[in-house]
Amino acid sequence: MMKERLIQQFQELFKGEGEIRSYFAPGRVNLIGEHTDYNGGHVFPCALTLGTYGIVRNREDRKLRFYSANFEKLGVIETSLDELVPDPKANWTNYPKGVMWAFEKRGYKLTHGLDILIYGNIPNGSGLSSSASLEVLTGVILKDTFGFDVSMVDIALIGQDSENNFNGCNCGIMDQFASAMGKKDHAIFLDTNTLHYEYAPVILKDAKIVITNSKVKHSLVDSAYNDRRTECETALKELQTVTDIKSLGELTEEEYEAHKDAIKDAVRQKRAKHAVYENQRAVRAVEALKNQDVELFGRLMNASHESLRYDYEVSCEEIDILVDLAQAMPGVIGSRITGGGFGGCTVSIVKNDAVDQFISEIGKTYQEKVGHEAEFYVVDIGDGAGII
Ligand code: GLA
Repeated sequence: MMKERLIQQFQELFKGEGEIRSYFAPGRVNLIGEHTDYNGGHVFPCALTLGTYGIVRNREDRKLRFYSANFEKLGVIETSLDELVPDPKANWTNYPKGVMWAFEKRGYKLTHGLDILIYGNIPNGSGLSSSASLEVLTGVILKDTFGFDVSMVDIALIGQDSENNFNGCNCGIMDQFASAMGKKDHAIFLDTNTLHYEYAPVILKDAKIVITNSKVKHSLVDSAYNDRRTECETALKELQTVTDIKSLGELTEEEYEAHKDAIKDAVRQKRAKHAVYENQRAVRAVEALKNQDVELFGRLMNASHESLRYDYEVSCEEIDILVDLAQAMPGVIGSRITGGGFGGCTVSIVKNDAVDQFISEIGKTYQEKVGHEAEFYVVDIGDGAGII
């Protein structure tokens, strides 16, 4: 089993004595409600059974020694609790360091150092939240190690804070929330305005969730993401001159159409339109799932992709190829880009008896058109982060 293998690796690497503890935090896939979480809208993600493992032992000094089994060439990266500042040379350890920084900022005292071995089986840069899972994992490690009185929702918020203010990506709360709060076989219907949430069983009858990894990640993802966020914030300010709202998530489609002329730029209008319509789609999709209307859920996923492609413009050629192929295939109920965009993955709902064909045909055509392989994961929905 993974845990035992990693513990053995930890012992060989760090040597020494003392109690060793193990933790896990999952990645996530968002089913619908994309780029709504920083616009006060709804999201509908679920935790995966893929994620990030952490093997940990206390130290008596203030040193931090990190090792990632994914980046073996980097070796052990050493720092200390007195050096919690972002540093490009610190590579991936900026994520756990950011979470430690965010705890200390809130007054939680980290009184001793740690040796930490990390291993993740989420494909890196695929838009399935490997970084959020590492942040939430660190939160769980610190809560357990130092006995901090923080809830799992607090851990998600601390993770987001570290990503925003230590690692420089202005992300919303969705990814950290899904990793911290996930529940087996359920998706989380989260209102990002209030953090009110509800678990909805994902009952797809005779169908499965299939993630397709385009294996492309276009550069400038973070800056393009931050640009979208700024465009939405500007559009909101313009709308606030004509209507009394605090976020785009408060508007219905009709209200948006009535007020949209206050937005003085065509691109910003498209961005705001996506945020408003996508939020309403997410609400409707959850309703459809509750009514066991999987077909309607799928049509809303398709509409979500259209909006992300043309209005929000966060898709890309490779992803559009995957989605077009999927949507045209019999047995596919719905398909869309998932996550932040500009590459990464699509999520599709596929009838059980069409899954093999989905993987072989789309795999083949994608390879021919793009020149490299796609990867497919038929996923299970797992629990949120914790001690293992
Ligand atoms: C990234 C961010 C999330 C969310 C999605 C888009 O995954 O981290 O907060 O904004 O993009 O829905």
